[in-house]
Amino acid sequence: MTSPAPVPMLAVRDVVKAYGGVRAIDGLTLAVQRGELHSVIGPNGAGKSTLFKLLMGTERPDQGSVVFGGIDITNVPSFRRARLGITAKFQNVPIYQELTVGQNLFIPLRRHHRPAAIPHETDVLLDRLHLSGTASLPARSLSHGQQQWLAIGMALAAKPEVLLLDEPAAGMSPDETRDTGEIVRALHAEGATIVVIEHDMAFIRQLEGTVSVLHYGRLLAQGSMDAIESNAQVREIYLGSAAH
Ligand SMILES: Nc1ncnc2c1ncn2[C@@H]1O[C@H](COP(=O)(O)OP(=O)(O)O)[C@@H](O)[C@H]1O
Ligand SMILES: [Mg+2]
Repeated sequence: MTSPAPVPMLAVRDVVKAYGGVRAIDGLTLAVQRGELHSVIGPNGAGKSTLFKLLMGTERPDQGSVVFGGIDITNVPSFRRARLGITAKFQNVPIYQELTVGQNLFIPLRRHHRPAAIPHETDVLLDRLHLSGTASLPARSLSHGQQQWLAIGMALAAKPEVLLLDEPAAGMSPDETRDTGEIVRALHAEGATIVVIEHDMAFIRQLEGTVSVLHYGRLLAQGSMDAIESNAQVREIYLGSAAH
């Protein structure tokens, strides 16, 4: 007898999402397991951002379902998904530039922790985010990369069940990109379930997780980065075009 398949932490099943005549997502089924670090890649227009919105609940599918821990959340609005434990860090970071780094973290931390625990939780987050020693600095004094890490910290402060990261390395220097990879890998090593939507192949390679390749809103390939990079179809549509 085979054991039953595990219930995915987060999944889309047979999802279609069209804008006008364009099927941004075209019959996609994709599952993220608890504790998995799962990257979604694909060329421009592949449907990555649309998938992100469908997972967040800021868009609804025309067909198919979104499932969280075995529960159908297709019609659950975004703010309630956040309460269920689906938290995202978007590209445009809503951090408060005039507040200090510590004050920024305090805002989400106080909703999820006892007041007495907040100083310790702040230190733990800053350490995880390579931001130790910055608590009393204004957020605006941080580099672009550091501000992105602070935003990841604000998402983590909510103690999410699953963390969605939308192009976490966008606009970063090579050093910051590498540090971001280390931060994400360390969170995964501690047991976090993380979905990364990303264009930068070098960054995804560094993560060493499961990779799904989208193309025209469909799943073209799935596996380790090694398997993805040796897949002829992927090379043609993605790596091939990048090499020219
Ligand atoms: N709000 C929208 N209105 C019209 N077309 C859209 C909209 N969002 C996405 N699309 C189209 O859907 C396809 C997938 O887009 P998107 O999900 O942004 O891909 P990616 O993030 O992988 O670049 C593209 O052809 C895009 O033009
Ligand atoms: Mg996009």
